[in-house]
Amino acid sequence: MKHSILFLFGLIPLFMFGCNAPKETNSNFDLSDKYQQEVLEVAKQQLGYQTKVIEDSGRFMNPRTVEKGFVRYVGNHDWTSGFFPGTMFYMYDLTQDQKWKDLGVKYTETLESVKTLKSHHDVGFMINCSFGNALRVTNNEAYKDVIVEAAKSLSTRYREGAGVIQSWDEDRGWQGERGWSCPVIIDNMMNLELMMKATQFSQDSTFWNIAVSHADQTMKNQFRDDWSSFHVVDYQKETGEVRSRQTAQGYSHESAWARGQAWAIYGFTIMYRYTKDPKYLQMTDNIYNFIFNHKNLPADLVPYWDFDAPNIPNEPRDASAAAITASALYELVEMGETQYKATADKIMESLSSPVYRALVGTNGNFLLMHSVGSIPHKAEIDKPLNYADYYFLEAMARKAELESI
Ligand code: GLY
Repeated sequence: MKHSILFLFGLIPLFMFGCNAPKETNSNFDLSDKYQQEVLEVAKQQLGYQTKVIEDSGRFMNPRTVEKGFVRYVGNHDWTSGFFPGTMFYMYDLTQDQKWKDLGVKYTETLESVKTLKSHHDVGFMINCSFGNALRVTNNEAYKDVIVEAAKSLSTRYREGAGVIQSWDEDRGWQGERGWSCPVIIDNMMNLELMMKATQFSQDSTFWNIAVSHADQTMKNQFRDDWSSFHVVDYQKETGEVRSRQTAQGYSHESAWARGQAWAIYGFTIMYRYTKDPKYLQMTDNIYNFIFNHKNLPADLVPYWDFDAPNIPNEPRDASAAAITASALYELVEMGETQYKATADKIMESLSSPVYRALVGTNGNFLLMHSVGSIPHKAEIDKPLNYADYYFLEAMARKAELESI
């Protein structure tokens, strides 16, 4: 990252609010995007308030969303626990302010025990978004051991007969009431990055092979002819036979849950980055075409929570899905797929506008408004979410890096 250039973001004063950002004269760095500079200024303030509350408490409180007017903090074993620590590192990338790096390290290290979590697949999100970023930013070799240990935990969920990592247990919680044998959700593609890194750090190809098998089974079984993704595929654990294709967080079994499509394009982007296998790149293009040619995708490119939600246009949007997709598209651009840049920029312009981006001191000190956790579970509807902010800042850092070249 071109730190000296990114640092320019930090010099934009608060009185810029409400004004269009001026054109940056540095010929190598295009700051013409309408809202990017003021967004970073807002991020510094919002996250400044958020972290002050945490620091004043004397312990790590991990903010996930807003519920009944209050910030909801979660414990280490919540699936979203890695996002807020990871967000600190993207703030460091974007500002070069050491304080974000220090907070990132501090919050990340509180999560170390998560590396032994075996009760669901989300250990990949939790450890990669925290320790993965901590390693990238600090080069602390000890973090590699945490990543490898977490990958070992995730590997315990690999079902050899089906060739997949089982996402959820079939006999616990609300998932246990669905009669599943080996449920795999499209979100699980996001956990594969941890596995690929673990092979790089340990030289043990087991993790890599599990990830490839999982991705290939997902490619084969989790998509419809139009390249939209089912949310859940239930496999017969021992044989790999597909027992059913369903949803848990989407509108219906046959609908296209928006965040699921986002996890899908991001997940296959990861697989392409590590393997350079063109079949994964082809998948990203297939999914891109489904999303961006869909008749129900609004003009601002921020999807409704489900592409088939029954009352469109009177349905909540999901800013998190848009942020995840934008970040994946920038990564594809970075790998030479420059045709996606304009779409990613358009998403970022929408998310950065006052329609989605909160005013300082509002929104529980989260950055983005208007995400959806799970409508079927009546949870987090039209709310801020820590992962919307995480992927939004990741996308912003990727965009800034691309434009600084
Ligand atoms: N992985 C859970 C979700 O996307 O809501």
